[in-house]
Amino acid sequence: MEENKIYKGEIIRQENMGLGIAIINGMTVFVNNGLPGDMGDIMITSIKKNYAIGKMIDFDKKSLDRVNPICNNFNVCGGCDLMHQDYKSQLLFKQTKVIDIIKRIAKLDNIRVNNIIGMDDPYNYRNKVVYHVNNNIGFYKKETNDIVDVEQCYLVDELINKSYLLIKKYLINNKINVSKIMFRLGVNTKELMIVFYGKYNKKQYELLNEYIIKNIKEITTILVEDNNKQYILYGDGYITEIIMGLSFKISVDSFFQVNSKQVEKLYNIVKNNIDDKDKLIFDLYSGTGTIGLIVNNNINKVIGIEIVEDAVNDALENAKINNIDNIEFINGDVNVKALELYKNNLKPDLIIIDPPRKGCDTKLLETIINLKPKKIIYISCDPVTLARDLKILSDIYKVEEITPVDMFPNTYHVECVCKLVRK
Ligand SMILES: C[S@@+](CC[C@H](N)C(=O)[O-])C[C@H]1O[C@@H](n2cnc3c(N)ncnc32)[C@H](O)[C@@H]1O
Repeated sequence: MEENKIYKGEIIRQENMGLGIAIINGMTVFVNNGLPGDMGDIMITSIKKNYAIGKMIDFDKKSLDRVNPICNNFNVCGGCDLMHQDYKSQLLFKQTKVIDIIKRIAKLDNIRVNNIIGMDDPYNYRNKVVYHVNNNIGFYKKETNDIVDVEQCYLVDELINKSYLLIKKYLINNKINVSKIMFRLGVNTKELMIVFYGKYNKKQYELLNEYIIKNIKEITTILVEDNNKQYILYGDGYITEIIMGLSFKISVDSFFQVNSKQVEKLYNIVKNNIDDKDKLIFDLYSGTGTIGLIVNNNINKVIGIEIVEDAVNDALENAKINNIDNIEFINGDVNVKALELYKNNLKPDLIIIDPPRKGCDTKLLETIINLKPKKIIYISCDPVTLARDLKILSDIYKVEEITPVDMFPNTYHVECVCKLVRK
């Protein structure tokens, strides 16, 4: 096999990041924009020791799952991976991927994996987006730091798209030192935050501030971040979102789930698994306190642990705003703080874990096992690290069920809620 040569091939399945797989001359080829059932010409773009990378350049037969991507920048922009795949087929891909990964990495067979929960409309769902600025304004191209100039993004809420175009027009006509712009929206409150990252120049930003207030009626707060120092130009530096009837204050650096519609379905799965026996609940990696506050009732007490101080401050205020007082939030590293709770002899009935993509440290999993909760609910945005952690937990806990939720349509990412009970 040679680089830059074209070979005939057929895509037989998709790998975890959605690339097509073809076997050509006995070698596995990962094919950009290839879908199962595609047959045709594959150009080899690079050859590694055990595999090659290629792209479909012509079709003898197209996959039945192939659709025309709604966005002209698909394949250039790094934001989407699966816009060329019918949404039903995207969901099947994610469901199968979760089952395969759990079998292969956690070595768990016969685990109940419920049907993935998808969206009715898999577009314009993101409540947060970051645009990059140099000569162009837009998103990074796939695997580079070059910027694709974009006019709109089909994954982002329409209100953000509209506001972005106004800001873009201003930046084209006025010289301002800015490298990134973040938009964050309370989808259910229509409160909009805009954050500019760059050199703070008071005069320039005062003019921009005036322009935004005049043109974007939903604007709630505007900030500039220059070398980790924040300047609030307008509002109070945060927005509010309403999820499942509760209000959540969200600051610039606090984590908040990006899909406000699907998040209710995700949190409902967690809530439906709470019963009256869950008197003491730990909410590990608690962010702005969303899950702890949602599962809190007048029977249980919740203790959240979160490393980002601003997020903990938001969580404390969120408890106040929602009149919830049997909840505590601890600021610190969960690996250290959960161990302290264990040493203080606390005995949680339920532990909820919602770590970042890298999953949990082995040390934390040991602490969780020592804390002996009857139930664990593990929310994960990466099935690979979920499976790795389940391999450890499943010595002591039975994995009862996993429910995949599509929080990120048109990308290869998938969220899972996993319920474990002590054997
Ligand atoms: C996937 S988010 C979950 C947040 C929250 N449960 C929610 O649903 O919005 C993961 C959170 O873990 C926090 N985090 C990351 N590493 C941590 C650590 N070592 N100790 C405590 N929190 C950590 C992040 O700041 C982030 O807020």
